[in-house]
Amino acid sequence: MKEKIIIANWKMNYDFNDTISFIRNLLKINLDKKINHKKKIIIAPSFPFLHISNKIVKGSNINIAAQNFHHMDKGAYTGEVSAHMLESIGINKIILGHSERRIIFSETEEILLSKIKIALKHKFYIIFCVGETYDERSNNKHFIVIKKQLSKTIFKFTTNEIKFLCIAYEPVWAIGTGITATPKEVQSMHYFIRFLFLEKYGKHVSDKLQILYGGSINDINAKNFFSQEDVDGGLIGNSSLEFSKFLNILLS
Ligand code: 13P
Repeated sequence: MKEKIIIANWKMNYDFNDTISFIRNLLKINLDKKINHKKKIIIAPSFPFLHISNKIVKGSNINIAAQNFHHMDKGAYTGEVSAHMLESIGINKIILGHSERRIIFSETEEILLSKIKIALKHKFYIIFCVGETYDERSNNKHFIVIKKQLSKTIFKFTTNEIKFLCIAYEPVWAIGTGITATPKEVQSMHYFIRFLFLEKYGKHVSDKLQILYGGSINDINAKNFFSQEDVDGGLIGNSSLEFSKFLNILLS
C-alpha cells in the first residue's frame, strides 16, 4: 500500500505562538506509532516561522514545506523570498500552483514554469496543485482544464526531473466553501490524472505518483476520500487549523 501524504496548508493564518504550540502538541503525541508509518505529515507554515518549525521537527516524522517562493533566483525583488533562501534554512518542499496564487496573485503558467525550474534547480519536492473553477465544472470542462494545466507546466519536464513531485487536485469551488467534490468525482479525476501521467511518462511513474485531494476536507469526510483507490492523501486548509480535527484526519 502506498504511503498517504497529509499536508496542512496554514495559509496566512497562524502567528508565531500558534505555529509553535501546534507543532509541539503534534510532536507530543506519539504519531509514529498511532499512524503506523502509513502517513507522511507535511506542515506548511508562513515564511517567518519556517526556520524554527524546521528545527523543532528535526528527527520526527513531521516535515515542513513552504507555501511559496519567487520565480527568480535572486535580485531586486523587494519583499520576495527565493528558493535559495529557503534552502539555506533547510526547507526543501514547496507548494506550487495553488489556485489562491493563480487567481489572487495572477500566477500564470509561465510563472509556474519558472517556479518549477527553480524548484528543480534547488532540488525541492514539489506539491503541485491543479483544479477547475465552478463554471468550468458546470460546463463539463474540468477534465480538459486539468489536462491543460498539467500540459503547460509539469509535462514540459522529463521523467527524471519530476521524480520528487506529488499532485494535489483542488477544485477551486471546494476550497474553503464547505462544499466538497464527491468521493466518486474525486476518484474519477485522480484516475484521469494518473492516466495522463501514464501516457506521458509510462507505468512506473504513474503507478508511483501520489495524488492528493484538497477542498473542504474535514475530520468527518476525510476517510471517504482516503479510501478511494487513487487518492493518496489530502491537502488541508481550514481543518488543519484545529488541532483535534487535524489529528482525527491523520488518524482517518
Ligand atoms: P480548505 O481545506 O480550507 O478547503 O482549503 C483547501 C486548500 O486550499 C489547501 O491548500
